[in-house]
Amino acid sequence: MKYKILELLKQNTAYISGEEIGKTLNITRSAVWKNISKLKEIGYNIDSVTNKGYMLNSSSDILNEYEIKCALKTKNIGKDFQFLKETDSTNEEAKRLSQSQTKNGFLIVAENQTKGKGRLGNSWSHSYKANLSFSIVLKPNFLPNDITSLTLITGMAICKAFRKLGISAFLKWPNDIIINGKKAVGILTEISCEIERINYVIVGIGININEKNFSEELKEKATSLFIETGKEFKRIDILNSVLLEFEEIYGSFTEHGSFEPFLKEYESLCLNIGKKIKAISKQGTIYGTAAGVSDKGELIIKSDDNNISIVSGEVSVRLQDGRYI
Ligand code: BTN
Repeated sequence: MKYKILELLKQNTAYISGEEIGKTLNITRSAVWKNISKLKEIGYNIDSVTNKGYMLNSSSDILNEYEIKCALKTKNIGKDFQFLKETDSTNEEAKRLSQSQTKNGFLIVAENQTKGKGRLGNSWSHSYKANLSFSIVLKPNFLPNDITSLTLITGMAICKAFRKLGISAFLKWPNDIIINGKKAVGILTEISCEIERINYVIVGIGININEKNFSEELKEKATSLFIETGKEFKRIDILNSVLLEFEEIYGSFTEHGSFEPFLKEYESLCLNIGKKIKAISKQGTIYGTAAGVSDKGELIIKSDDNNISIVSGEVSVRLQDGRYI
């Protein structure tokens, strides 16, 4: 019942009386009051004014099953989903579920992660109620080798979604999202496969949204959408924007079966290209200039002696003041 009342409140931009809610839903005014209290308890910001009634304050930023269901406008990605108040890591949860039951496009969203995982064995810290952590399970037909391209197009989707919201985001190869020289999003792609076949891929995404302060350790490198724009965003809206963009680009990627059609656009969003970089890869540390990206999604580095391509690794871009980000 509380969500029926919520729906009514969402449809009305003015106050709506307890009597009117009661009549519409065929419940007593005291039942209305009890359910409004429940909604307040789970975080909805509802104004109650004597003789006027109730009004939902549109600034409520709430993640729950109901909000996700209402907000997602995608066709397939996230149509089946699980919302968790807390988990160790949405990627780990996705793996556990994928042993048996998940479909292509299954989404896991958590309000809190206790052991969020980052790339290269790092951890990913998550601020309760300020940020967004989710994982998408994919069951693609392409070969395990194409996974590099998938991580790149995921970054592109997020970058494009942010730009549509007026945020000046760039990609740092392979898929960090950078705003004003600092990282706002991390993507961790994990795969379960055989030599020629992918069982499933998990694309885990962490977005710093309304975080206001980072620890001393992270301050230099990390940022949030709030810090860069001065605006608070509803996490549910960001989730919807990112998933819509991802659905489109992923659909087109699986249709084409290659990264080649995305190359130009990727390069235009990527701040490494043409810049001095330092790459720590299997070949060791390479200093050079990022010359471009190959049609397999590898970063092409032009070092002083020859051309070298790398598939994965840690790449830093040299800023004008000599610092690397
Ligand atoms: C990085 O190191 O940049 C990648 C960070 C990825 C973090 C996300 S948050 C959701 C998903 N679950 C995890 O444990 N990690 C990813």
